[in-house]
Amino acid sequence: MRELPILPAPRRFWRSDGFFLLPEGGSLVPLLSRRIDPAIRGEESYRLAIRPNEVVLSASTQRGLFYAFQSLKQLVAASRGGKLPCLKIEDSPRFPVRAFMLDSARHRQPVETIKRVIDGAALLKMNVFHWHLSDDQGFRFESRKYPLLNRVGSFRDGEGFGSKRPGRYGGYYTREEMAEIIRYCHQKYIKVVPELDLPGHVSAILASYPSLSCHGRAIRVRGGNGIYPDILCPSRPEVPDWVKGLLDEIMEVFPDDEIHLGGDEVPKGQWYCCPDCLAHMRAQGMQNAEELQRAFTLSLCDYIQSRGRRAIVWNDSLKAGALPPQVTVQYWLGDKKAAAGHAAAGGNLILSELKYMYADYPFGLMPLGRTYHYEPSLPGAPPENIRGVEMPVWTEFIGDDKTLFAHLFPRLAAVAEVGWSEKARKSSADFLLRLNALLPQWERLGITAAPKKDWNGHSFSALRQTLRFLLQTSNIETVRRQVSNMKEARVHAKKQGFSL
Ligand code: ACM
Ligand code: ZN
Repeated sequence: MRELPILPAPRRFWRSDGFFLLPEGGSLVPLLSRRIDPAIRGEESYRLAIRPNEVVLSASTQRGLFYAFQSLKQLVAASRGGKLPCLKIEDSPRFPVRAFMLDSARHRQPVETIKRVIDGAALLKMNVFHWHLSDDQGFRFESRKYPLLNRVGSFRDGEGFGSKRPGRYGGYYTREEMAEIIRYCHQKYIKVVPELDLPGHVSAILASYPSLSCHGRAIRVRGGNGIYPDILCPSRPEVPDWVKGLLDEIMEVFPDDEIHLGGDEVPKGQWYCCPDCLAHMRAQGMQNAEELQRAFTLSLCDYIQSRGRRAIVWNDSLKAGALPPQVTVQYWLGDKKAAAGHAAAGGNLILSELKYMYADYPFGLMPLGRTYHYEPSLPGAPPENIRGVEMPVWTEFIGDDKTLFAHLFPRLAAVAEVGWSEKARKSSADFLLRLNALLPQWERLGITAAPKKDWNGHSFSALRQTLRFLLQTSNIETVRRQVSNMKEARVHAKKQGFSL
């Protein structure tokens, strides 16, 4: 192994002669020296020195000391014969954001499961948990202001997504449960960014409060994958205040500085059929409904900012033009030029390119090496405005812990190394060796990673998973709905004299 058995690989290290003898059967913790050293620059930086007579962790912050300890834990786990080889490490991350996203809307994971995911991520020095809490198939945030969001919007008929399991499926996270997750993350220096996905992906909200849509008709919480046509009406006078009321509640529960407003995959057919939306667009001289989404998003970003927080949106929100640089754009798919333009104008980007970062994809379509060799950049985007990377896991077809852990691990280790380690340090062979050392550590945390034979996507089981994934995601009903969404928007926009 060229590197130390630490993942993500540290920036610099020096090996030296000698060993520190680990206490037999006892804890190493009382023997450690932890030093706050203001001379160490960077709040995530740390140093670790292992000498024959001492182990010293130093950093200018508690966070830095925590990261030093994660590295030390990995060294101890990989040590042989009760001895730690002497060395010195000076480490700091390449990018300030190393995030993971969990979709708790399509399937609601138990709190204990989420804590295991957080444990596994913390060991890799990940620092942001993006929590996707609302979607067409379920609303998972406990709302005291709008109780129907939970009574109606948190449940659907059956498990959905092709499963024949009968009964109601769902539930929500109580305030206490969310507080517990937030506390748990903060103990591990992980920030929590909740997502309220708007104005699309809102069937669960509209099933609870139908008057928030353009047509006002009753709809059900959905049970299939893909994009649904029912979206919020931003032009009914009561809707913006209703949404701000919900954002107030979310900001009451989630104390960190960023809120994700979603904004992805918004089929606009209904806006072109809505008297309120048409009047709104015409009064504002808008060219099309993309501009209406932009105006809605901007008003919510401003609202969040007026409350001292910052907004993140998926890059679809750039379709009608630039957003102010205070808004962070998360790139996943589509117009790279628009996203790069946002960065060139001073805005920040988080990169979650679908082809490299989506953990719901099977290894047969996205081998582990593809993620590992991803270089976070966009042509035309200044590197200093790329804040980092995020690995999302969408859970339409991930309904149990075993499947969830196998999708997240070990891919998250590849993402951690992309986000933390210098490009020049990359070596697949070395990465795989270090990954082997990590597997038993995850097992001790209750996490079983995907089996090694699947990682390059060539094994029989990887191919079987890929086939199943393709059959699940491209079912005829989903494809039909997608085509109908696009057609509806085109036909109605044209009828109303708007250009697309
Ligand atoms: C997304 O995957 N719809 C952001
Ligand atoms: Zn409308």
